[in-house]
Amino acid sequence: MTPLLLRGRLLSFHRAPASLTDTGSYLYEEDGGLLVEDGRISAVGAYAEVKAGAPETVEELDHRPHLILPGLIDTHVHFPQMQVIASYAANLLEWLNTYTFPEECRFVESAHAARIATHFYDEFLRHGTTTVAAYCSVHKASADAFFAEATRRNMLMIGGKVMMDRNAPQGLLDTPQMGYDETRAIIEEWHGKGRNHVAITPRFAITSTPEQMSAAQALAQEYPDLHIQTHLSENHEEIRYTCELFPEASDYTDIYARYGLLGRKTLLGHAIHLSERETDVLSQTGSVAVHCPTSNLFLGSGLFPLKALERREKPVRIGVATDIGGGSSYSMLKTLDEAYKIQQLLGERLNPLDSFYRMTRGNAEALSLVDRIGTLEPGTDADFVVLDAAATPAMRLRMETVKTLPEELFLLQTMGDDRAVTETYVAGRPMKSNLLAPTLGA
Ligand code: GUN
Ligand code: ZN
Repeated sequence: MTPLLLRGRLLSFHRAPASLTDTGSYLYEEDGGLLVEDGRISAVGAYAEVKAGAPETVEELDHRPHLILPGLIDTHVHFPQMQVIASYAANLLEWLNTYTFPEECRFVESAHAARIATHFYDEFLRHGTTTVAAYCSVHKASADAFFAEATRRNMLMIGGKVMMDRNAPQGLLDTPQMGYDETRAIIEEWHGKGRNHVAITPRFAITSTPEQMSAAQALAQEYPDLHIQTHLSENHEEIRYTCELFPEASDYTDIYARYGLLGRKTLLGHAIHLSERETDVLSQTGSVAVHCPTSNLFLGSGLFPLKALERREKPVRIGVATDIGGGSSYSMLKTLDEAYKIQQLLGERLNPLDSFYRMTRGNAEALSLVDRIGTLEPGTDADFVVLDAAATPAMRLRMETVKTLPEELFLLQTMGDDRAVTETYVAGRPMKSNLLAPTLGA
């Protein structure tokens, strides 16, 4: 691969910003250079310096005056739910039973899964997202399609076939043994191939019998380095029913604790309505609560106490995510815009530096992948997003009065969407500009 030198305004976080004036928390290079060799970042800094050290054969791409950030990261999405978005339901359980479970049944067909996989990656790339942690359907074919397409595009993806053996239509059920065997087969086939990471994925306690939870526990013990992803305390009716199904557990979180499923690689979708005891368990085990703001508002699930969870003496680790298709946007900009509004309703502040930290480095830390993605550090993978805060007439007009970087970021978050994404790079290759026009019949 020819070495590539990108020029633009670089932004990358060293740590979570403590305040809007915490300039030490990030690197900002007004005329920056980013050298990419063999899919990795080999140098970063002032353009003139990086250029001086670059090989003679280097190809240059000038993105000025746009911002170049690490590729955006989404820590909770559902691959088989692209055609579930915008389904009209009163609440989570009605939405699952009426629309989501029937739709996921279609992923038994490899051809359908392969077609949706193409659209799935196209859409995330269009929105500047280069890594997602995804739930596939119960069918092995869906995980195969998910990872085959990720491999083809050389994208760093986390995914797993959901394990579910009760409380869903027949076409969506495995058994404890099948869930175990197929997850193992997917791990053996895909984990570590290309940039793929397989996650152990018991969907949630309602759809797994105690026997299947034990099978998930066995997988977690056999593969202790893998991510585990599931849902926790999203909706009051869900919590009540879950606790009824596991009467021996002291609460919802205790169910996962009893099956050894909590830890630093565990991603718990939603986690909105937690008791003090449950919050303590999450912080003690280092498990990650994944905030899905557009979904929580769309399904009326509740207001996630993000700032309160982080203010604790021992904070809870937090990721942010779209939760497609309970979520209503593929955009991490829109996702943080809604996260901001939820904190406003709770009387808390979420500042724009903090938001952009979360879409990038924060989510990489939540996934324990910050050594690979989420920053512009040399040695890490060359996944980037190029953002234009004047992408639409209304944004351009508002930009006339913007004076500072935080103001520009806040404008991007509040008014931006896929139109603000000028380019998306995966392992050093421009992807968004090379997407084919969507072929919906295909
Ligand atoms: N809980 C269990 N499955 C799901 C799902 O697909 N979406 C959401 N939002 N919550 C869930
Ligand atoms: Zn989910």
